[in-house]
Formats: sequence, structure tokens, C-alpha cells
Amino acid sequence: MLRVRAPGRVNLIGGHTDYTGGLVLPMAIDFATVVEGERGGDEVRLESADEAGVAVVALDVEDPAGVTPPWARYIAGVVAELRPPVGFTGRVSTSIPIGTGLSSSAALEVAVALALGTDLPPAALAQSLRQAEFRASGVPCGIMDQLASLTGVEGHAVLIDCTALTITPVPLPPDVDIVVVDSGERRALATSGYAARRAEVAAADALLGSLPQATLDDVAVIDDPVLRKRARHVVTENARVLAFCAAIAAGDLATAGEVMVASHASLRDDQEVTTAALDALVVRLCATPGVYGARLTGGGWGGCVVALTDPGALTEGWTVRPSAGATVDEL
Ligand code: GLA
Repeated sequence: MLRVRAPGRVNLIGGHTDYTGGLVLPMAIDFATVVEGERGGDEVRLESADEAGVAVVALDVEDPAGVTPPWARYIAGVVAELRPPVGFTGRVSTSIPIGTGLSSSAALEVAVALALGTDLPPAALAQSLRQAEFRASGVPCGIMDQLASLTGVEGHAVLIDCTALTITPVPLPPDVDIVVVDSGERRALATSGYAARRAEVAAADALLGSLPQATLDDVAVIDDPVLRKRARHVVTENARVLAFCAAIAAGDLATAGEVMVASHASLRDDQEVTTAALDALVVRLCATPGVYGARLTGGGWGGCVVALTDPGALTEGWTVRPSAGATVDEL
């Protein structure tokens, strides 16, 4: 019997940069998905404590996006990517609020992959699992969510360079709260502009040669005003990730909070992935005493805002703790 635990994540800063080869700073959180059961047989069969129906996925599944119930598509995506030699029978449960932008789907993919067994190191496994997500949902997501779930470190965020795929744990001060507040707005990434943003940023990257290396002077010569905005978001957001890390290292929470607010403004004005509800939520949270800053976390067009606060400053949302990455235990 195996018990696999894969955490969700919240991204502190570095929005819409992972798929450009940029910098992100997610942390694994103390909400997780657990898969328990045993290997064997020629299918993956999982019951869910949280979702209707049973997932039954043949090891030679052809079309993950066509599998039902819909939550089983992520399992089918993992099977189609990893092609494990034996199946798995068991049960899945989660404490991650599903579909709010805390990477419930990435955590399910990571948990299923580790339950099935794999020799891939974390970066290669995360690449496969982001492909699994694409096969399951059609969303061409970046590598951040799966990598954060795999490589989280207790008490730390992880600075990921999405070109080099290096991971640097960044200690977080114990005397702050990280609070996630749900806007209540739901818009599936697949039907939103996520893929359009990816394409726009790829076009800017092609114009500039390498977006991760570009400067604001390089960006200024892009003629197309939309591509120029998208490129400016990526260049300034990468700089903000480093500025946030420096502020946290110096214990300067006021500056860290300002950098988060600037990140949200760039996601709103240049990347254009926020909504009026998200913008209003950030303004309201930032007006609360003891809140240093707040920003959209996750893909956008709804979902959650993350805030950096003095302990107990906010009485709403989920206070999440920086947690270790996925684990596998034999029972
Ligand atoms: C979603 C994707 C990630 C990342 C974020 C935006 O969460 O799954 O790969 O692109 O959006 O930062």
C-alpha cells in the first residue's frame, strides 16, 4: 500500500512568466491531494472523496480529453504521458479548494504520477505533467504548478528559473501571514485568453530573439502595441520577482508588498488577465491595516488573490503555510 501526498501551491510573484522561460516564486501550501492504494493491474482505478464518479483509465488510453468523469482526464493525461507498466487501484481525496487557482489539477497529476512510479527527476517529471495537463484540459500551461508541488520546501518559497529549470529555496519570515482570498469568480483557463497570451508572448519572444534576456529598451522598439505591452509585463515581472526576493531577504515587508501591488497592476494593464472583481479585491485587501500587498495568483480571469500580511490582519480567506513538496510513503 502506498500513500502519496502532493500539495497545491500559491504563486507569490512571477505571474504569466513561467511559459516565457522567466522567473516565478511559488510556494507549496499545506493543502494537499492524497492518493492511497496499491499498484497492479492494467488500469488506473480511483474513487474520489470529493468528486462524483469513479476514474477508470486504461494504461493504453488514447484520448485523455474525452474521458469521463471530467476529473479523470487529469489521471488519463498522466497515464498517456508516463505510460506506466502497471496500473493502480485506490482512492483520492483533497483539501485543496478545487478549481480556484491553487493548482488542484497539478497536485492530482503529481500524486497520480508518484503513485504509478517514475524515475524522472523533478524538472523532467514536471515537464511531462504539464503536457499531461495540456492533454487533459487543452490549457497550454507552464511548468510552475507541477514543479512547485514536487519541490516545495517547508518554510520556504521556491525561486524557479523557467529557462535553466533551477530551483532556489527562499526562506519566508515566520512572522507574516500569506493569505489567499477567493474572488468567487470562475473562468476556466481553457476558455479564457490564457492560450492567446501564450501566443502573444511567443510572438514577442520571436521578435526580440529571447524575451528572458530582453531589456525595456529592447521592448520599446516592438511596433505592435499589444505585443509591446505583453513583453513589457514579462520583463518588468522578472525584475519584480528578484526585487521581491531581495525585500524578503532584507525583512522589508513594506517593499515586498509594494512589489506585489506593482505586479498586479502589470497583470491588469499590460498582460490584461485580471477582472474588475480581482482588481477591486486587491484594492480592498490593501486598504486593510496590516496588509503589505496583494496580487492575483494563478492564471487570471477570476480565481484567487494572495496577500502578505501581519499575523491575523485578515479575517477572511485561507492562511496558507509554506510546505514541503510531494511525498510517497509505504504503508
Ligand atoms: C496557471 C498556469 C501556470 C502559470 C500561471 C500564471 O496557473 O498553470 O503555468 O502560467 O497560470 O502565472
